[in-house]
Amino acid sequence: MKPSLAFACFLFFVTLFPFTVFSLSSEQPAVLCHSDERLALMQLKDSFIIDKQALANGSCAYPKVDSWDSQSLDCCSWDGIECDQNTGLVIGLDISSSCLYGSINSTSTLFRLVHLQKLNLAKNHFNYSVIPYALGNLSMLTNLNLSSSEFSGQIPLEISNLHRLSSLDLSYVDLASPIPSVLANLSSLTSLNLDSCGLQGMFPLAIFQLPKLETIWLERNSDLKGYLPEFNFSTKLKELAFFTGSVPSTLGNLPNLKFLNLGYNSFTGELPSINAKTFYLYIISLSIYLKLKVLLNCYFTGSVPPTLGNLTKLYWLDLQINYFTGVIPSELTNLTQLTFLNLKGNMLQGSVPSSISRLEKLNSFDCDDNRLGGLLEMDAFLELKDLQCLFLSLNDFTLVSRNDSNATRPQAQLVNIGLRYCHLREFPYFLRHQHGLQLLDLSSNNIQGKIPQWMSKVSVETLLFLDLSNNSLTGFDEFPLVLPWSKLIYLKLDSNILRGSLPVPPLSTVFYSVSNNSLNGEIPEQLCNLSSLSILDFSYNNISGGIPVCLSNFSKSLLVLKVRSNQLDGPIPSGWATGNRLKMIDLSKNKLQEKIPKSLMECKLLEYLDLGNNQIRDAFPSWLGSLPELNILILSSNAFYGRIENPKLNLIVFPKLQIIDLSHNRFNGTLPWGYFERWISMSSLDGKNSPTPKYMGESFDMRLNVIQVPRDYDYSMTITNKGMEMKYPKIIRTLVAIDFSGNRFDGEIPESIGKLKELRLLNFSNNNLVGGIPVAIGKLIILEALDLSQNKLEGRIPKELGTQLTFLAFLNVSYNRLTGFIPRGTQLQSFQSNSFDGNPGLCGKPLLKECSNNARGLPLPSSTSSEEFGLDWKVVLLGYGCGFLFGAVIGHIVIKRKPDWFAKTFSKFPTRRR
Ligand SMILES: *[C@@H]1O[C@H](CO)[C@@H](O)[C@H](O)[C@H]1NC(C)=O
Ligand SMILES: *[C@@H]1O[C@H](CO)[C@@H](O)[C@H](O)[C@H]1NC(C)=O
Ligand SMILES: *[C@@H]1O[C@H](CO)[C@@H](O)[C@H](O)[C@H]1NC(C)=O
Ligand SMILES: *[C@@H]1O[C@H](CO)[C@@H](O)[C@H](O)[C@H]1NC(C)=O
Ligand SMILES: *[C@@H]1O[C@H](CO)[C@@H](O)[C@H](O)[C@H]1NC(C)=O
Ligand SMILES: *[C@@H]1O[C@H](CO)[C@@H](O)[C@H](O)[C@H]1NC(C)=O
Ligand SMILES: *[C@@H]1O[C@H](CO)[C@@H](O)[C@H](O)[C@H]1NC(C)=O
Repeated sequence: MKPSLAFACFLFFVTLFPFTVFSLSSEQPAVLCHSDERLALMQLKDSFIIDKQALANGSCAYPKVDSWDSQSLDCCSWDGIECDQNTGLVIGLDISSSCLYGSINSTSTLFRLVHLQKLNLAKNHFNYSVIPYALGNLSMLTNLNLSSSEFSGQIPLEISNLHRLSSLDLSYVDLASPIPSVLANLSSLTSLNLDSCGLQGMFPLAIFQLPKLETIWLERNSDLKGYLPEFNFSTKLKELAFFTGSVPSTLGNLPNLKFLNLGYNSFTGELPSINAKTFYLYIISLSIYLKLKVLLNCYFTGSVPPTLGNLTKLYWLDLQINYFTGVIPSELTNLTQLTFLNLKGNMLQGSVPSSISRLEKLNSFDCDDNRLGGLLEMDAFLELKDLQCLFLSLNDFTLVSRNDSNATRPQAQLVNIGLRYCHLREFPYFLRHQHGLQLLDLSSNNIQGKIPQWMSKVSVETLLFLDLSNNSLTGFDEFPLVLPWSKLIYLKLDSNILRGSLPVPPLSTVFYSVSNNSLNGEIPEQLCNLSSLSILDFSYNNISGGIPVCLSNFSKSLLVLKVRSNQLDGPIPSGWATGNRLKMIDLSKNKLQEKIPKSLMECKLLEYLDLGNNQIRDAFPSWLGSLPELNILILSSNAFYGRIENPKLNLIVFPKLQIIDLSHNRFNGTLPWGYFERWISMSSLDGKNSPTPKYMGESFDMRLNVIQVPRDYDYSMTITNKGMEMKYPKIIRTLVAIDFSGNRFDGEIPESIGKLKELRLLNFSNNNLVGGIPVAIGKLIILEALDLSQNKLEGRIPKELGTQLTFLAFLNVSYNRLTGFIPRGTQLQSFQSNSFDGNPGLCGKPLLKECSNNARGLPLPSSTSSEEFGLDWKVVLLGYGCGFLFGAVIGHIVIKRKPDWFAKTFSKFPTRRR
């Protein structure tokens, strides 16, 4: 996104298609297009396929080539084609965002269009083709855009032949190579965009000498090194978004520079942390610049230099996401031209200077997520008549808002307000006079009682986003059944104490979540009118009655349906419609009965199905195995029964399954070894392992251009184990788990279990399993939890369990018929003795019973104390939060285990600062 696309709140807004659309002449060209060029275009079209999935999921606009038709002779009238009016030659081709998929190389007929001046191929999928060198033959080119189009490889040297090239955009193309220095031959270049290209090596200094260059974008190239040269006054640069290193004092010689962005780079540690003093030295040379954005997400430390207050022409100051400490210097309020001030995500303390009201032109103020505090007079902001965006969330402010008639005098008409965690006890009075709000976040305050009636009149025509979660609201005071904000897109009312029936948001709503309240009554039918909904979550309430059938097909765009933990009864609705987009269905913890309806097969995109804790009576739904995306299947604590037959050879069997929980049912017969052999996603997680953890979840599109709004919905999950609920507020992408506990499975544990190499949690406890513990379990080398307790397993514990399962944090083999010694000298001996209890034939540490010295390791009566084993280490694992992220398996539980295991397992995860 380029800040030059200035909307009301500057950076808060993104444009959906930041690509240049060439203006096409509306007049009919006098001359028809040339047949050879028409043929070349048709062949070009035929060399690609249309990526239907990309089209369906909105990641491209529409296939422009659809209008290209060999029957229509005049190719100049085709979508995306521009011809020279006099000659009929094709001079512009814009097939950006056209859902094209396929490879392209220098033999493509594209390169017969030698008169092309503008070529835009952005936002397609060229299948990682290398950038064709034949581009160098299009010698008339002035504009070339290959952004976000899945090209890869180096910039071909031939590009340097394009002497007319003025604009080159290769952003989001995977170059993974240095910038060739011949780029400095592009003497007509005015704009160069190489954002996020995986550039390596040194940035060629000569490029800065290009006489016409005005804009350089090089953001997010963490392996690129370089420095800025000494500049002279003739340099035309206007916009510079760059890595730093050292900034030369002559940066001040760039008289045209309007935008300087030193952000997004140097994560590599190359850059020493820059203290405020050095920072000031940079800044003082920038006194002529009007916009300043500093090292976003980088290493600035120290306090915000008061001398910034000398840059009196500055109208745009962005210091977000650094390490600035200290107070907000009152000198900043000398910057009376400021329209945009962003201090978000630092460690600033103290209060906001009341002189902020001097910034009369301020349009947007954001100090979210600092350590600011104290009383904050809302009045100081309301005097700023141009203020549209105000974000004060996540500090320790106590907001003071006057509530007398004087508050009705003319004041700021805000558009976006974030007052999360501001110790509010009631709806602030000033809201009564806000008629143009689009975003209102009052979450995590202390607001009690009913939502007052006057709120039903606040910004009824404009409000798009409303978050009132985490308060103590009890209901709506005389609101209409359907809430009044007619354009609302996002409504979050979670974690209040709302009573009464489920409120119905307006038809426009895309995201609706009201979980964790005390709502009761039945599901109102009006809910089924919400045909735009993507996310519907009313879990953890007391809603009763049946689920109306319409709830299974009311919205074509529904992605998530979560009604966990209510009092719903009757059958699972059976109206799941063809072509639906559901990815998560969670109906768990209700009283649903009967069988799983076969129409669930229509949910072809389903990733997550949780029907646990109901009263469903059915055989194993092996037919769900053909759902191509199913990741998580939870059927626990129901009345499922019978054998799980091994799958037929020609059947697709859960190709993406990672988590299956069948616990606490009445399954019997042998364990379904045939599935273990074919659950490929449990044996290899190609590509899902990444250095930083990723979570399972869903992104939803809200057609709402405010960046601060969440667009991801994380899946959460609860697995109940021996009465203990393990909560996963987020599910890490690499979690692979099988829980078949509490059934009536018999027979032996099949060797094929050893194929599921990505398993982290395996629970076969509380069944009737016999035979030995297979040595193959030792192949599950990243297993973190293993429970085989309460079966009839016999024989020795294979030593491989002790020597190979180095991540094992939880082990339970108690109450079986195991014999012999617990493998000596292995980590198994560091578990507590209750992991092994109830096996009379078992001996050795940590059990008190010693083994006899004979080779068979038979037990001796014993009375050793357990203290010598030092098992009192306590490690508290937090699933997430506090900026840390631990273990895939262990959610919010406390485990007694050695800290070296802790370090080994989790040190690989980076921690967020603070
Ligand atoms: C949309 O589909 C394309 C093509 O299959 C895929 O690469 C992309 O990741 C999808 N995007 C989303 C947001 O699902
Ligand atoms: C994409 O590239 C792969 C590997 O080069 C190739 O096998 C496949 O056929 C290509 N797909 C298309 C649609 O060109
Ligand atoms: C270029 O692509 C065409 C069609 O996709 C293919 O037939 C040809 O072998 C490719 N040429 C080279 C050099 O890769
Ligand atoms: C900042 O401005 C003040 C007042 O104009 C001046 O006295 C001071 O020298 C300036 N500071 C710097 C570092 O230029
Ligand atoms: C800037 O503000 C401070 C107090 O906030 C004031 O003393 C100083 O004179 C101001 N400087 C300029 C140049 O206006
Ligand atoms: C309202 O404003 C008037 C005039 O500015 C002032 O005299 C009066 O004290 C104000 N009332 C309150 C309650 O602040
Ligand atoms: C398994 O369960 C089914 C259904 O409950 C029952 O009919 C069958 O007899 C059981 N088989 C065994 C071996 O217990």
